[in-house]
Amino acid sequence: MADFDTLRIRAGYNSADHNYAVNVPIYQTASFDLGSIERARSLWSLEEAAGIYTRVGNPTVSVLEERIAALDGAHGAIALASGMAAISYTILALTEGGGNIIASQSLYGGSEDSFSHFFPRFGANIKFVKDRFDAASFEAEIDEKTRGIYIETISNPNAELYDIEELADLAHRYEIPLIVDNTVATPYLFNPIKHGADIVIYSATKGLGGHGNTIAGLILESGNFTYSKEKFPQFYEKSYKIRTRNNEPRSPYEVDNKGVLLTHLRAFYLEFIGAAISPFDAFLILQGVDTISERLNKQVRNAEKIVKYLEQKKEVAWVKHPSASNSPYKALAEKYFPKGAGALLSFGFTGTEEQLDKFFQHLKYFSYHVNIGDVRSLIVNSPKTTHAELDETHLKNAGIETNTVRISAGLENADDLIADLEEAFIHVFGT
Ligand SMILES: Cc1ncc(COP(=O)(O)O)c(C=O)c1O
Repeated sequence: MADFDTLRIRAGYNSADHNYAVNVPIYQTASFDLGSIERARSLWSLEEAAGIYTRVGNPTVSVLEERIAALDGAHGAIALASGMAAISYTILALTEGGGNIIASQSLYGGSEDSFSHFFPRFGANIKFVKDRFDAASFEAEIDEKTRGIYIETISNPNAELYDIEELADLAHRYEIPLIVDNTVATPYLFNPIKHGADIVIYSATKGLGGHGNTIAGLILESGNFTYSKEKFPQFYEKSYKIRTRNNEPRSPYEVDNKGVLLTHLRAFYLEFIGAAISPFDAFLILQGVDTISERLNKQVRNAEKIVKYLEQKKEVAWVKHPSASNSPYKALAEKYFPKGAGALLSFGFTGTEEQLDKFFQHLKYFSYHVNIGDVRSLIVNSPKTTHAELDETHLKNAGIETNTVRISAGLENADDLIADLEEAFIHVFGT
C-alpha cells in the first residue's frame, strides 16, 4: 500500500479511463447515456459501476469517494452535499424503525442541536452520556435499542480527545458500531478505522477541502463491522431497487456484505432524499486534498505557537488544545496524534462582550466567522455563534464556557498572527 502522501494525489484515478486528462475532469452532467437495454440491465444490477444519474453517482464524485476511502483505509465512501447531510444520513439509517445513539455532548453545535431537537422527531433518539471522559458512562446508557456510539475524534470547539480504542471495544461488545466525526483531525492527522471505528464522517467543508470555498461531506464504512439481523433488519430487507440482473430483489447485505450501510444509503437515502454533491464541488474538494499534508502540518504548528503565546497572556483565562501545558489530553495526543492534535484551539477571554467585539474588530489576519479548517486563520465567539442554540445546561454539559473564543489556525506566518493578536490585546486592554 502506497504512503498517505501518494494516495492523496493518486488514489481513485487512472487518467487512461478519462481521456488521459491529467487532472480529474468535472463531469458536469445530470445524466448518462445508458447505451443499450442490455447495458442498462448491467448498470441497475450494479454489475457495471458507471454513471446513471448524478443524484446517485458521478465519475468526478467517485474519484473523491475512492480517494478518501483509500486515505482512511475504508471499504468505501459516499460523498454528499454537506457534513450535516453525512451526519443525518448516518443517524437516520442506523436508527430506522426506532433506535437510539449514545453520544458525547461535546460536539459541533449543529450536531448537538439536531441530536437534541431534530432527530428525535423521526424516532432517532440520542442519549448523551453523563461523563464523556469515562467509558463506563457510555456503557451505562446502552440498552437493547442502541444502534451506535457517536463522538468527534477532536471535538469542536475545545479540542477534547477520547480513547477511541476503548470506545470501539465497548461498542463491539454490544454489537453496535462506533461512529466518529473525524472532521477536525482529517485523515492526515488521524486514521479512526485503524483504531477500531466502523463509520467515519467528514464535513469536507473544513480541513479536507481546506480553502473555505465548498460545502461537502463524506461517510466512510470500514467494512469490518457485522450488522446483526436483530438490531439492523433494514440491511437484510430485500428490495427491487437493488435487484439482480434477473430482476430478483436483494438486500444491502447481498449486494455488498462489507459496504452494507453505503449500499443502503446510496439506494434509498441518496435516491429519495438527495443531498448529492455537485461534480464541481467534488472537484474543489479533490484540489484541496492534493495539499492536505502540507497544509495540516503548518496549520498545526501555527496552532501550537498560538497556544504558547496565549498561555502567557494575563488577559487569557485558559487555553484548550492538547498541546497546552495543562492539557488533560497529553497522553491521548501522544498515543493517537503523533503529527499533532489539530489546528483548532479555544481560549477564555477575560474582558466584556464589548471588549471582545473591539478585539475582533482590531484583528487584521483573523476572519471573524464560523467556518474552520480554512487556509485563512479564523476566530469566533462560539457560545454566541456556532453553539448559540445550546442553552446554559447544554453549554455546561458540552464543556463550553461562556467566555470561549475559538481559533482555527490558517497558513499565514505564525509571527504575523501572534503580532496581530498582541496588537488587538493592547488595543483593548492597553497592555
Ligand atoms: C465537526 C463538524 N462536523 C460537521 C459539521 C457540519 O458540516 P457542514 O457545515 O459541511 O454541513 C461541522 C461544521 O462546522 C463541524 O465542525
